[in-house]
Amino acid sequence: MTHRILLLPGDGIGPEITAVAVKVLGTIGERFGESFEFEEALLGGAAIDATGTALPEATLEAAQRADAVLLAAIGGPKWDTTDPDKPRPEQGLLGIRKALGLYANLRPVKIFDALREASTLKPEFLEGVDMLIVRELTGGLYFGERARQYDVVGAGADGAAGQRAYDTLDYREYEVERIAHTAFEAARTRRSKVHSVDKANVLESSRMWREVVHRVAADYPDVELIDQLVDNSAMQLIRNPAQFDVMVTENMFGDILSDEASMLTGSLGMLASASLGDGTALYEPSHGSAPDIAGQGVANPLAMLLSVELMLRYSFVLHEAADALAAAITRVLDDGWRTPDIANAATLPQRRVGTVSMGDLVIERL
Ligand code: IPM
Ligand code: MG
Repeated sequence: MTHRILLLPGDGIGPEITAVAVKVLGTIGERFGESFEFEEALLGGAAIDATGTALPEATLEAAQRADAVLLAAIGGPKWDTTDPDKPRPEQGLLGIRKALGLYANLRPVKIFDALREASTLKPEFLEGVDMLIVRELTGGLYFGERARQYDVVGAGADGAAGQRAYDTLDYREYEVERIAHTAFEAARTRRSKVHSVDKANVLESSRMWREVVHRVAADYPDVELIDQLVDNSAMQLIRNPAQFDVMVTENMFGDILSDEASMLTGSLGMLASASLGDGTALYEPSHGSAPDIAGQGVANPLAMLLSVELMLRYSFVLHEAADALAAAITRVLDDGWRTPDIANAATLPQRRVGTVSMGDLVIERL
C-alpha cells in the first residue's frame, strides 16, 4: 500500500534528521512491502526566508492532502525577535497544529535499559519508568487572547505610561472533555492510571479542567484518576517518576513537564511525539532545532525515528513494522552506539557516532 508523507524538515538540525527518517522508511518499505511517497514543504524559519511567512498556504494544503506529516524542528537565533509585528518560526508550528486540529499530543517517556547510565537521575529511580504525557495542544495559554499595549497610563514606574502585555489561559469545556477521553482511552491500553495535572488551587481554568476530567472519568470506572498540582508534578517527576502511567495536562504545563520528563530518558534527543486530531496526524520529535549543533552531523536522530515508529502505528496501522523499528533502535543502543548527547565516560570511543551512522546502524538491524 502507498502512504503519502509530507516532510517538514524545518530549521537547524531538521534537514539532517529528516534525511535519516526517509532512508529508514525506504528500508522499512522494502522489508514490509509498503511504499512511502514523500512530498516536502516549508515551515518555520526556512519558510519565513523563502516566503515571508512561517506557515505558507501551500504547506497547509500539502499537509491536508497527505496521509501523515513528519516534522523535524523549527526555529533558531536568526529569527529570534521580541517584536510582536515580526514573523516567528514558532507561528508555523502552532499554526499547523491549530489548522489541522491536532489537539492531542502524545509524548511517550520510555527508558531504554542501555541508557540508564545516560540519565542524570540515579538508575534505581528509573526502575519501572514508562509513562505517556498527553498534552493538550490547541488551547490553553498558547492560544488564548494576547496583546502588547504601549503607552498605557500607570504601567510604567511611579504611575508613568509604559507597556502592558498579557496572555490568557482559556479553555472551553469540549476541549477538556476530548483530551480527557484521549487520556482515559490511552490508560486502558496501559496500566489504567491517569494523573490529571492542573493548578486548581489558583486558576479558574484549572478548576473547570478538574470538574470536566472527573465527569469524563465516570465513563472509565476501570481507570484510576489522581489529581495533581503542576508544581507537585514537577517535583514528583524527579522524586518518583515510576508512579506515572498517563499524565494529562494543559498545553504549556505539558510543554514544560515533557522537557523535564525527557531527562529521565537521558536526552531530549530520545523523546518522540504524535499529534493527533480528527484529520491528518503529525509526528515530530519533542526536541527543538538545536541551532548550536546544526550542520555538524552530530544530532541524535532517534527521537525522529521513534516519531516514525508512532506514525507507523497510529496513521498506517503497521504494527509489525513499528515493532521492528523499535527493536532495531533498542539493539543499536544495547550494542553501545551513542550520539554525543547520550554518550558518557563509559562509551567506547569507537562507538561514538554521528547522525548518519546512527541511522545506518538502525537500518542494518532492520
Ligand atoms: C514543543 C516545542 C514547541 C512548543 C515550540 C517550539 C513552539 O517546545 O513542541 O514542545 O512549545 O510547543
Ligand atoms: Mg517544548
